[in-house]
Amino acid sequence: MRVTRPTTPDNRAAHWNTVYDTKGEDGVSWYQATPAVTLELLDTLRIGHDASVIDLGGGASVVVDHLLARQFTDVSLLDVSKVALDNTKARLGPAAEQVHWLHRDIFDWTPERRYDLWHDRAVFHFLIDEHERDSYLHVLRSGTAPDGKVIIATFDTHGPTHCSGLPVVRYNATELAQIFAPHFHLLDTRSEEHLTPAGLVQPFTWVALTPSPDRSPG
Ligand SMILES: C[S@@+](CC[C@H](N)C(=O)[O-])C[C@H]1O[C@@H](n2cnc3c(N)ncnc32)[C@H](O)[C@@H]1O
Repeated sequence: MRVTRPTTPDNRAAHWNTVYDTKGEDGVSWYQATPAVTLELLDTLRIGHDASVIDLGGGASVVVDHLLARQFTDVSLLDVSKVALDNTKARLGPAAEQVHWLHRDIFDWTPERRYDLWHDRAVFHFLIDEHERDSYLHVLRSGTAPDGKVIIATFDTHGPTHCSGLPVVRYNATELAQIFAPHFHLLDTRSEEHLTPAGLVQPFTWVALTPSPDRSPG
């Protein structure tokens, strides 16, 4: 299935709401019951539970569940899809009150604070135009603490060319890190063979970054 690429916040919201309405939170190809690589990187990067964390395009992911279970006290979840956010709120129940909910489009958002950890799994790879990636980098720079950490996961170079009908850009770790240089430098990488609910393997590239010490303020 290929769809017309949404290019406005309203169109993106409509697209992603339809995807979540149609497939359900655990029927989408990116569903994972346990966010294993995220949890491993939290440990490797020594992200303490007092860190402020934003899951950018977190959707209906269970990353937020695991952060709360690990006693993180400052968790934000941003997504353009209200359906996804409502699904996550319903799943969390009363614990949802502990989360800062940001029903926003990343291209229509100015961070009001700087986060200790910025987490993005399977959002950045939808940015196929250079000006979109430049906008993302601008928002990332203004939303990351000087000693913060950034985790970004995209499809690997031998991964699918599309996700939920939309084209993606595929990266190896070197290419992905290069996008964010020189403002951020690479701390760590992972390769993951994600198994979709339909039983297909989707190779992912993960990078962990941190702002470069001599970067100009974002
Ligand atoms: C492939 S899903 C990944 C969801 C989640 N990160 C995960 O790993 O389960 C992409 C997510 O990004 C959200 N999204 C796409 N474009 C966005 C934008 N411009 N601003 C905010 N969220 C966006 C979608 O609604 C969707 O939840």
